[in-house]
Order: sequence, then structure tokens, then C-alpha cells
Amino acid sequence: MNLKDKIQRLRKEKKAVILAHNYQRPEIQDIADYVGDSIELSRKAMLEQDAEIILFAAVDFMAESAALLNPSKKVLLPSLGARCPMAQMLTVDEIKRLKVHYPNAPVVLYVNTLASSKAYCDICCTSANAVEVVNSLDADTVLFGPDRNLSEYVAEKTGKTLIPIPEWGFCPTHLLFQPEDVTVLKQQYPNAVVMVHPECSAEMRRTADFVGSTSKMCQYARETPAKTIIVGTEEGLLHRLRKENPEKQFIIAYADAVCPNMKLTTLDRVYTSLKNEKYVVRVPDSIAKKARIALEHMFQVKNSA
Ligand code: 13P
Ligand code: SF4
Repeated sequence: MNLKDKIQRLRKEKKAVILAHNYQRPEIQDIADYVGDSIELSRKAMLEQDAEIILFAAVDFMAESAALLNPSKKVLLPSLGARCPMAQMLTVDEIKRLKVHYPNAPVVLYVNTLASSKAYCDICCTSANAVEVVNSLDADTVLFGPDRNLSEYVAEKTGKTLIPIPEWGFCPTHLLFQPEDVTVLKQQYPNAVVMVHPECSAEMRRTADFVGSTSKMCQYARETPAKTIIVGTEEGLLHRLRKENPEKQFIIAYADAVCPNMKLTTLDRVYTSLKNEKYVVRVPDSIAKKARIALEHMFQVKNSA
């Protein structure tokens, strides 16, 4: 029996569901029950009534959100090292420090944060709904973290003042994209359109016809009449884009844009994880209660994707 068959057998035996982020390796996306962006995966985790185990093929903060929203289920992260470096950039102390300076400003945190930080915010957002979440608040000044680029993007779209916390939080993978690479590609493919993730720099965003979360980019790719699309996000998304749009051509704006943490999930690790029911993601009750409220507030926002 090959590894994929073994995983299928274990999945049935253990009533497990496999959720995979759009940046996962192709072979992981192909065996998953569901592939999506962070808000879609959180929603899916909430709706999984029948499953006893949720195996989260992604990084730490996404699995933590699933555990927060599904306290009765066992949530597994196949590789303990799969940690989002951006999520580690914001500490609770930094939030507390800025709150002293801006006591009336609500705190909005990107889901790319640890549960301990979420417990200190008013509401969470993802890249798919950050603009709607900030617009839903009755405040013109908002503390927003940890991604500085997303914060600038939301400030542009909402006209509100966003104070970035920390001052320079970033995604190391999205920082690799440079506008000059797009210029060269546009010369090669003059009819191509460009879509990028809001974690890219402002200069990169200015080259784009469309800016959005990974799943919103999938939607744009389906709907645009353009036949060639230059993509400014982690290269894993191209597997899904090509599968869903075989007649279109997708070109990554920078070939080495790989999130090493997302790629730690392999078929071997998924198998071992299901077999040994490791690693179980647990959030202490005192943190979970408050962090869950911040996620629930996000789901209450109209049009929150
Ligand atoms: P999405 O919510 O767009 O999938 O983004 C998550 C992420 O980690 C981007 O780097
Ligand atoms: Fe974190 Fe960037 Fe990887 Fe997304 S791509 S998980 S933000 S390091």
C-alpha cells in the first residue's frame, strides 16, 4: 500500500479531516479534503461536525485558530517546526506598550498572530477581510499588527490611521518580491495581468491589477479574461491556480518565493501525524476564551469573506 492509500485508510479509521492551506506542497493539496485561505480554513474547521480529528496542513497560527474554534476536537499540526515567523514578531508586551499610548484605539490583529496576542485584541482579521473589519469599527485610529504592509494597504483603502504594531512586522517570503522583476516579466508578457498578496510591499502592490488574499486571487484568476497572470505570492498557490484554470498561464513574479515553514508538511509527516495523533495543538483555557472572542467578532462583520 502506498503512502497516500495509507493516509486515506487512517483518515477514515480515525474520522479525520485534512485541511490544507493554499501554500502547501502539491501532493498535500491533492490529498486534502479542503484547500483554502486562512479565513476559509477557519470557517471549515468550525463547520466540521462529524470529524473527530482535524489535521491542519499549514502553520502554527492557523492550527491554533482551528483549536480555538473547535475546543472539542483534536487538532493536529504535522510538523512542530511549521511556525509563521511573522506571527512571532508581535508580543503581548508590545501590544500593552502601544495601548498605553493609544488608550482609545481598538486593536485589530491579523490572524497571523499567536493565540496569546489574539487574547489582547478587540477583533481579528485576515487578508481577505481586513478592510471590512477596520471599516466596521467606530474609530478613526486603529492599532494594527503584525504586518506593516497589510496595515499600509488597509490604511489606503479605509482612509483611517493605522498604527502598526510592531513597527516593522513583515512576511520574509512576500518581501522577496520586487517590482523590477514584474517590469521584466511585463516586457516578456505584455498582455499579462498582475495579482499580488497584500503582504507584498507598497511598490509591489502598485504593479498589480489585483490585490487580495490567496483565495481571492484564485477567484480573480477564474474571472479575469486575461490568459496570462503574473502572481506575487508564495509559489504553492500556483498548483491550485493551474489545476483550476488549465487554459491559462501562471507565472510567479519571483521563482524562489517559498515559505519554508509551509513546506515542512510532507506526506510522510501527515501519515506519522495521523498514526501517532501528534502534534496536538492546545491553547490554555485562560488565553483561549479571550482569543476566541476576537475571532468570533471577526466572523460577525458583514462581508467578512
Ligand atoms: P491568506 O489568508 O491569504 O491565505 O494568507 C495567509 C498567509 O500566511 C499569507 O502569507
Ligand atoms: Fe507566515 Fe509569510 Fe509563511 Fe504566510 S508566507 S505563513 S505570513 S511566513
